[in-house]
Amino acid sequence: MITLPQLPHIKKLNSIAVLTSGGDAPGMNAAIRAVVRYGVSQGCQVKGILKGYSGLLEKQMIDLGASSVANIIQRGGTLLKTDRCEAFHQPSVRKEAAAILRSEGIEGLVVIGGDGSFTGAHLLEKETGFPVIGIPGTIDNDIAMTDDTIGFDTAVNTALEAIDRIRDTASSHDRIFLVEVMGHSSGFIALQVAMGGGAETVILPETQETVASMCKTIERGIKRGKTSSIIVVAEGPQPGLSARLSAELSNYGYSSRFCILGHTQRGGTPTAHDRVLASLLGAAAAAYLLAGQSNAMAGIQKEQVTLVPFDQVIGHKKQIPPELLPLALVLAY
Ligand code: F6P
Repeated sequence: MITLPQLPHIKKLNSIAVLTSGGDAPGMNAAIRAVVRYGVSQGCQVKGILKGYSGLLEKQMIDLGASSVANIIQRGGTLLKTDRCEAFHQPSVRKEAAAILRSEGIEGLVVIGGDGSFTGAHLLEKETGFPVIGIPGTIDNDIAMTDDTIGFDTAVNTALEAIDRIRDTASSHDRIFLVEVMGHSSGFIALQVAMGGGAETVILPETQETVASMCKTIERGIKRGKTSSIIVVAEGPQPGLSARLSAELSNYGYSSRFCILGHTQRGGTPTAHDRVLASLLGAAAAAYLLAGQSNAMAGIQKEQVTLVPFDQVIGHKKQIPPELLPLALVLAY
């Protein structure tokens, strides 16, 4: 059960805005709802910025009241839409963004997104003094100083459902299946899915497993009477690794199929866990911003909501818990 520290009840700002940036993640709508409803409850005006930093530069904004965010807590995607904004890498563009926010009467910004979005937010505050608070929203769970990110749990469950189905086919045809999951350079989704799906092995960006050692695992399974195998493959920096590995396996005499789950993992109804996490982080982010806090992320550590300065978050690699991989492999034996 996630707990909240005592949130500050000071109100230094009268008007804030919220945007979503980077890849969408299930639960982002619940976070938007919480920012808006908490802000409104404190007598604050809240605007929604459409399409992330790109929409900010185009002044695409809407007024949000308590009823504008009704009936969205259960919806995947993001009501505010999202984007990856290349232009925001330039200091002159960030200066322009701060000027736009100020000219619209906005005094603080909540950014829901991942590491890249936080970098933009951090630089915006550092260079222009504009107050920002981040909320970790990405299916990858690759953000440092937070144990969890909004969307991770839903993505893992979506991938698990797919694996359960694939296992039926794998077992009916006595086949090896490589199932590729998202996560970019981070193996959190893959490891969790491998553990929960009882995969025979898992290929992570963090480890250097060779095709030869994959073959050994398959061979060991066959000797023990296994007729099918599920191998979870983390996509790594470029999607398509499962296809390449499947081709390499055939050089070792193993016929296999691969299935890239791709963007199916990004959409869909958020799980209860993601809705609650998003609601707590959204409310906390709004409370901290209104109280005058800035340049920090509202995250979660040891089941408690925390506020962590961006410079302890951005660019720091979150490590896979080292004990989990060997355990997953022992349990898959
Ligand atoms: O960061 C979220 C994520 O879904 C990664 O897991 C994936 O590598 C990437 O986004 C895909 O990005 P896009 O939707 O731009 O293809």
